[in-house]
Amino acid sequence: MTSKQINKELVPRHVAIIMDGNGRWAVRQGMSRSKGHFAGVEALHRTVAEAIKQGIKYLSVYAFSSENWQRPSEEVEALMILMAESLDTYADELSAQGVRIYPIGDIMRLPESTRLKLLDAVKRTANNTTLTLLVGLSYSARWEINNALHQMVQEIEKGEVSISSLLNNPTAIEPYLATKGIPDPDLLIRTGGELRISNFLLYQLAYTELFFTETLWPDFNATSLQEALDSYAHRNRRFGKVTLANENDNKEEY
Ligand code: FPP
Repeated sequence: MTSKQINKELVPRHVAIIMDGNGRWAVRQGMSRSKGHFAGVEALHRTVAEAIKQGIKYLSVYAFSSENWQRPSEEVEALMILMAESLDTYADELSAQGVRIYPIGDIMRLPESTRLKLLDAVKRTANNTTLTLLVGLSYSARWEINNALHQMVQEIEKGEVSISSLLNNPTAIEPYLATKGIPDPDLLIRTGGELRISNFLLYQLAYTELFFTETLWPDFNATSLQEALDSYAHRNRRFGKVTLANENDNKEEY
């Protein structure tokens, strides 16, 4: 098998990305931070196309965290406008590529103009199946877990679910998470050189392989993605169990 052919077992089904470094990239070029976010959208556009080529089925990106609301109001406003404009620019193309846009997060906090464009794009792309693009917007894992807790309590109070069916079930929370029905990420990439998870998909990342790169998000390209995928292809995923000898053999063959 040549390295260009896709070996489905070694291509992660779900890749999550913390797209960090837009601000630093812009400052290094003597530009405003907002220009860095603009370049970040271009990087995301390239990465979606590349992910489709690679056979990745789910791509989760952290576009705006719950904590990002605390940034200077001009930057927050610029980001909200950029997101609305990016949907105008790219939603049709993404849809033609077979991308399903799937926001995760507290989208009621988004300005109405951005939210309505987003919901329209969600509706228009709902039946696409080539790649599901999960976009973390006003998202944090602790928000998501708290939101799940609210739903669980409501269902208990209404008598729709019993406490005993929730207790002693380590995965009982899953149907209440924003990622309900989506397989957990196989690979998490964080750009920008920081070595942390920053409140992204904390529950779902339990057995995810991690890849950190110094590359700033606006510079992320097909080669950067390939580097992360090559690293993933050489990992020995055990999910807390022991490895069977022939699993290793397969890896060496590839
Ligand atoms: C982190 O860089 C990046 C963000 C907070 C925003 C990422 C958003 C995009 C790439 C746009 C996404 C758009 C759509 C339509 C989904 P940073 O500003 O924290 O960079 P720094 O660490 O260098 O300051």
